Amino acid sequence: MGAWAWWPGLLFGAVPLLCLAAWHFTDAWHCAAFALKYRGRGSKGSRQRLPPGHMGLPFLGETLSLLWYFKLVRRPDDFIGAKKSAYGDGVGLYRTHLFGSPSIIACSPAANKFVLQSADSFGIRWPVPELVGITSVGNVEGASHARLRGFILAAINKPSSLRTIATVVQPRIMAALQTWADKGTIVAATEIKKVTFANICKMFVSMEPSPMTDKIDQWFGRLLDGLKAFPLDLPGTTSRAGRKCRRKLNAVFQEVLEARKKVHTGCDDLMSGLMQMEDEQGKKLSDNEVVDNIVSLVIAGYESTTTAIIWATYHLAKSPVVLAKLREENVEMNKSKSGSTLASLMITYDDIPKMKYTTKVVEETIRMANISTMVFRVANMDVEYHGYTIPKGWPVLVWLRSLHTDPNYYQDPLTFNPDRWEEPAKPGTYQVFGGGSRICPGNMLARMQITIILHHLSIGYEWELLNPDVEINYLPHPRPADGTSMAFRRLST
Ligand code: HEM
Repeated sequence: MGAWAWWPGLLFGAVPLLCLAAWHFTDAWHCAAFALKYRGRGSKGSRQRLPPGHMGLPFLGETLSLLWYFKLVRRPDDFIGAKKSAYGDGVGLYRTHLFGSPSIIACSPAANKFVLQSADSFGIRWPVPELVGITSVGNVEGASHARLRGFILAAINKPSSLRTIATVVQPRIMAALQTWADKGTIVAATEIKKVTFANICKMFVSMEPSPMTDKIDQWFGRLLDGLKAFPLDLPGTTSRAGRKCRRKLNAVFQEVLEARKKVHTGCDDLMSGLMQMEDEQGKKLSDNEVVDNIVSLVIAGYESTTTAIIWATYHLAKSPVVLAKLREENVEMNKSKSGSTLASLMITYDDIPKMKYTTKVVEETIRMANISTMVFRVANMDVEYHGYTIPKGWPVLVWLRSLHTDPNYYQDPLTFNPDRWEEPAKPGTYQVFGGGSRICPGNMLARMQITIILHHLSIGYEWELLNPDVEINYLPHPRPADGTSMAFRRLST
């Protein structure tokens, strides 16, 4: 037999066998290391156990499996589904090895709630805190976090702020829709991103579109890429480019802030709000905190809002009955407005509670969009949960997505059906905005922006997807692969 004849044998026999052995060995090794470390530490002599699951291959862990389900077969829910089939539903915790570290996945309403609401036991540890913003609300913990959240909630989540924001963002949305119709064919992702960013610049720092805001947009793009990249700080890496852009953004907004301190501009925007607010002790935010949090709020609100609006246009194009009902409600709302000024054509924050069907469309869009597949925490101490141990220092991946696509909680979960919101979701099964002390402070702002665009879209325009069967990308966020290309025109009367 020639030497070449060994190769197929090796390839189809020895290599898979070696991989299988490595796969078994890795899990056994991790479990043995855990058992050794925790020997005799269980309460009342009980043995401590890791949650069920598997640590995957050496170094890679379950990364290949994740990529298989999310990128190759495009069935992301089967990643958790496969765990449930292999190890049972249990208490909603699984051990795994992902993103370079042994980790715990939480994926049941109760387990997620437990992790998200136990802020003392589970903290935040970002791979590159500088990218998130060292003094930003997403990075600080404890009393500093509570204080900062208070400022941010007051600036973007209370009715008086939302009332102002509704009037600030609407003219630009109305103008943008007209330009889409003039173009006739658009890539919705590109156009929605543009108008969302222009509105962010306006409501956060009163900046009008200019070559400078184009640059800022590019820097945010690179910063967001850096956040999703492997955190390697070497020349040429995406992470290094992201850090550079974060510094540039902080410098630009620092300049805006300095200018405002010299000349009172009278701007009624987020930056002014954050500069003026005082906590209960009469203490204001430092300049650095204002700037860091402005940048971080853009990071948190830009891509998420854009993605939600993309999905709204996508689902409505595919659901003519829903669009007809949405149109009916919004045309009625529009008829209730009188006058011919721009302001008289706008909806107000106080109109939104009356828009019952539109509110259901918004909730269903956000449920199905699953913008954050998971959120990250890290165990600050050994944590016991229903007889399992989450070891100190291990990351916990709180899998939000799996709740929203589980047929036990949502009938026919992959169907876009706003009517399901006639009943509220089962307790704990709707975690699109996270939960506990870090629940998204921009949730009302996001809902309001989607409602506003739905209003103007439905009363004035119609659109068709050019590729209705396009594949969906699930990483880093779920989106139609073609950016949602569509024919877009004014509604024929
Ligand atoms: C549909 C749109 C949005 C979705 C689905 C969304 C989702 C989330 C989720 C899942 C979290 C993590 C919560 C946790 O760790 O428990 C979060 C946090 C956050 N979001 Fe949003 N978000 C959206 C829009 C916005 C907007 C518009 C803003 C502000 C402009 C914003 C600002 C933030 C901030 C500052 C945090 C960090 C909060 C903290 O750590 O205390 N988000 N969001």
